[in-house]
Amino acid sequence: MPVASDHDKPHPIQQELLTGKLSTTPGQQFLQQIIDNSYDSIFVTDKFGNVLLANAGTGLFMEHKIEELVGKNVEYLVKKGTYDWSPTMKAIKTRSVVSGIVRNKHGVQEMATSKPLLDENGEIVMVITNARDKDLVENYIAALEKERTTVHRYKTAVEYLSEVDSGNKELVAESPQMKQIIKTSNFIAKADSTVMLIGETGTGKEVMARYIHRNSLRSKEPFIPVNCAAIPHELLESEFFGYVRGAFSGANPQGKPGLFEIADKGTLFLDEIAELPLAMQSKLLRVLESGEVQRLGDTNVYRANVRFIAATNRDLKAMMSQKLFRSDLYYRLNVIPLSLPALRDRPEDILAFAHKFLEELNRKYALKKQFSAKATQLLFNYNWPGNVRELRNVIERLVITSSGDILNFEEDSLVNRKTGSETEQSYPESTRVYQGTLKSVIKSVEEDYINQVLAECGGRIGEAARRLGIHRTMLYRKMNNKCI
Ligand SMILES: Nc1ncnc2c1ncn2[C@@H]1O[C@H](COP(=O)(O)OP(=O)(O)OP(=O)(O)O)[C@@H](O)[C@H]1O
Ligand SMILES: [Mg+2]
Repeated sequence: MPVASDHDKPHPIQQELLTGKLSTTPGQQFLQQIIDNSYDSIFVTDKFGNVLLANAGTGLFMEHKIEELVGKNVEYLVKKGTYDWSPTMKAIKTRSVVSGIVRNKHGVQEMATSKPLLDENGEIVMVITNARDKDLVENYIAALEKERTTVHRYKTAVEYLSEVDSGNKELVAESPQMKQIIKTSNFIAKADSTVMLIGETGTGKEVMARYIHRNSLRSKEPFIPVNCAAIPHELLESEFFGYVRGAFSGANPQGKPGLFEIADKGTLFLDEIAELPLAMQSKLLRVLESGEVQRLGDTNVYRANVRFIAATNRDLKAMMSQKLFRSDLYYRLNVIPLSLPALRDRPEDILAFAHKFLEELNRKYALKKQFSAKATQLLFNYNWPGNVRELRNVIERLVITSSGDILNFEEDSLVNRKTGSETEQSYPESTRVYQGTLKSVIKSVEEDYINQVLAECGGRIGEAARRLGIHRTMLYRKMNNKCI
């Protein structure tokens, strides 16, 4: 039988391998070196399963010298207990790629894959097997799985957060000024230009930035808000640019992506831009001009694909004349300026907001509260130095602390009544009657005082924080916790 005689004849390559003739030319030696030094086990058989070639990894796994393996049939090796089954034999029988776990006589496991190589007539020429330590593969898979779970968790969190944010899709815009701003924003959103939002604290700059992003061509990509005032100066560069592993001591050993990278393809909202120190202003300008970003300690440069929206409640022109803000950066950012008017200058919005916030709170706490006529009048007449944020917080406080369905309150519940001038303010009298737990009263007093100081400082956070004797970051935290 031809097969039997074929079977008996040693494969020509086998002879060459055993006599070392295979590795005579430099090219062959080079290939041999690669095979020998491969971390994986590699071994090749003829179409009967006779071993033609085995590398050091295979020898180690099978606990045989390579010379002892060459020429042996895989079925013989399995029978002898060298390993428990032969993917090679299965690949020969099925004429297809076979993968599986094989165990040696000590129970060491490898993940092996055998691939039959066919000639033009569909005949098997040889079977190539490579195998890798199973623990290594499994550890890798487990690490990958862990990573995947973490990514999934972050993705869900991001989706949740953006849903929370976009829960408030309807912007309040009853006043002619706000209606015009919305119109302009719809138009601006589609352009990819840098936008500068200017307005007092609490006028809705962040709300507007998110609105522009949501209506832009980048809406499916991230919107990353960065409060420039809340990042300690010494961390600004690494936060914005990120760093590679080992860039400096105390850094995350894995390295860290910067904000430009995190916001890739999306929008980077640079809030409180006036608080950036001059050195960082120059670095930001370079990114805006060249579009190039380099992580700290990295030699690679990549292009930042980010739309910038900046915001401030400061008078940047005045800061420029005092050399506190770079004029070149100002002109780079101020491509499309958008001013958000103070709430007192758009009275039509006051009651629209008040009702919207009351409705939201009624829904949240399953209440049916309404404003009394007097409360409506007071809300309308107040000058709202903290703008929409202050209005929201006042209403939340009223809803939580009042009993009964009709919201009634005294004038001095609001810190400073509308007087026509921002400097004339009236503060709550010391005889004011508080209600509720000590904690809620303390919170209430704190809110009032922060509001008062913010108003006196014209909404300038840095100055207000200095006067309150707390760090700017703390003041922001208190503001964001809806303390005011
Ligand atoms: N047009 C609007 N529609 C709905 N909610 C608004 C609107 N404008 C402001 N708000 C609400 O007012 C609060 C303050 O808004 P936002 O944080 O955008 O103000 P800001 O101008 O960024 O303030 P700051 O300068 O202090 O950072 C938020 O709770 C926001 O939801
Ligand atoms: Mg803001």
